[in-house]
This record gives sequence, structure tokens and C-alpha cells, in this order.
Amino acid sequence: MSRSADLAVIGGSGLYALLADAVEQKVDTPYGDPSDVITIADVGGRNVAFLPRHGRDHRLPPHRINYRANLWALRSLGVRQILAPCAVGGLRPELGPGTFVLPDQVIDRTSSRVRTFFDVGAVHVNYADPYCPAGRSAVLRTAAERDHAIVDGGTMFVIEGPRFSTRAESRSCTAAGGSVINMTGEPEATLARELGLCYTSIALVTDLDAGVEGDHGVTQEEVFRVFRENTERLRDLLLATLAQLPAERTCPCPSTLDGLTLPFELP
Ligand code: ADE
Repeated sequence: MSRSADLAVIGGSGLYALLADAVEQKVDTPYGDPSDVITIADVGGRNVAFLPRHGRDHRLPPHRINYRANLWALRSLGVRQILAPCAVGGLRPELGPGTFVLPDQVIDRTSSRVRTFFDVGAVHVNYADPYCPAGRSAVLRTAAERDHAIVDGGTMFVIEGPRFSTRAESRSCTAAGGSVINMTGEPEATLARELGLCYTSIALVTDLDAGVEGDHGVTQEEVFRVFRENTERLRDLLLATLAQLPAERTCPCPSTLDGLTLPFELP
């Protein structure tokens, strides 16, 4: 039996399951397979889908994730609002491990990824403010209510990876205006916008990036360990935020495609 959902969480490194009593839903897309089967469950009366970005066994590195299939699959299940937690490095000393950051801007410096659904025609979406204002408000409200400190605003710098940055690269990201750095924030957010979806990135700082810390550089072991140590806080913030997301979308996200001639029908 197929089940629909209107909200979704795309879980990052260390968040491979979120929902209790979930049904599994395999979804086919014109772009190939999403990262894994999608699970759907009732959370506070809303149908919520969960997709582990890297696959449940973390087999997909950031540059091998099929971002188009993931976003298309979620939209075809009925999803219109997405919360997107991710592990990030801090590009500023005050953004140390364990800090939650709610970015409001992004700089996409990925290089090898397919970053659009629109390979034909003239479809150029507005992307001045990449994240959904209603989703961001819901996160801020929830964080305040549940006593989770969170930094409101910041620029996410997205690199290709999969290696971490050199100290010079890292300093250049800070100088360019980055607050936090990761490898999966794009093209996920762009593709969500191209499908008229609300997308809210929630960043958990797992390390200070190489240009900020003066010691050993960033290690994968530390990223995974710090994420693990903070998973329960993140899970609490995510589940409580879902209940705060508006039932009716009054943000600008749904009208992204108004007046544009699309080369295909949206699912
Ligand atoms: N993900 C978590 N920490 C990171 C860092 N320092 N650089 C890039 N991606 C990351």
C-alpha cells in the first residue's frame, strides 16, 4: 500500500533513522534511485517522510548522492516542506562543536554535481533567499521553547569534497563570508527550490575547520563522534519542529515556478 506524506526530513551523517512505527516506501523516479527506501510515519498527526541522505549504511559519499532522485521522490510522495539537518565544520572560532546553526544563506562551490532539473528551456528560479522563512521561524520557535541554543543566520559554504579543506582553502571560505562548511548542502537546496518545495537547513557543528583550529585538522572520526554525541538533541529539535510547520504554506516557496514554462509536469 502506498502512503503519502506532506513533510520530510532528509537525515545526514549519523542520522539514519528518525521515525518510530514507520512504513517503508520504495519510490522510482525518472532520475534513478533515491539514496534509500523512504520511511513514513505519523508525527503529531502529520505524515512525515524520512530519507537518509547517504543511505542507511552510509554507502554514498556527498558527490555520489543522487540529489535529483531524492527531491523528486519526496515531492512525488506529496512532500512540500523539508527539514534538512547536516553536519558542518565551523569557519569561525565562536561556532564550535555542538553548536546548532540555522543558515540563511549558502555559497555553492561544488563542482561535479548535476544541479538542476531544467536541462532544456529557460527556467531560472529566484534563489536570493535559499531557505524557507516559515521553516526557519518554526525551528527558531521550537528551539526557544525546548531550550536548544541555536545561532540564527549564517552562510553555509558547500565544497565538493570528499576530502576536508586545506588550511588555506578553509581561510578563503571564511574570508568569502562563510560561517559553516559542509559537502551536502548543495545542490540539495537548489533542487528543492526548483520543485517549489520549502527547504530548511539545520546545521550541527561537529568540528572547527582546518583554517580555524591550529592543531590536527579535521578528521572523519571527530565529525562522526560529535554528531553521535548530539544526535538526541538534534532528534528532539527535529521532531518538535515538525509539529510547528504550518499546515498551509503562505511563504514564497510554492510560487517559485509561477510564470515559468516548465519542460515537464511536476509530480
Ligand atoms: N562536514 C562536517 N565538518 C566538515 C568540514 N569541516 N568540512 C566539510 N564538511 C564537513
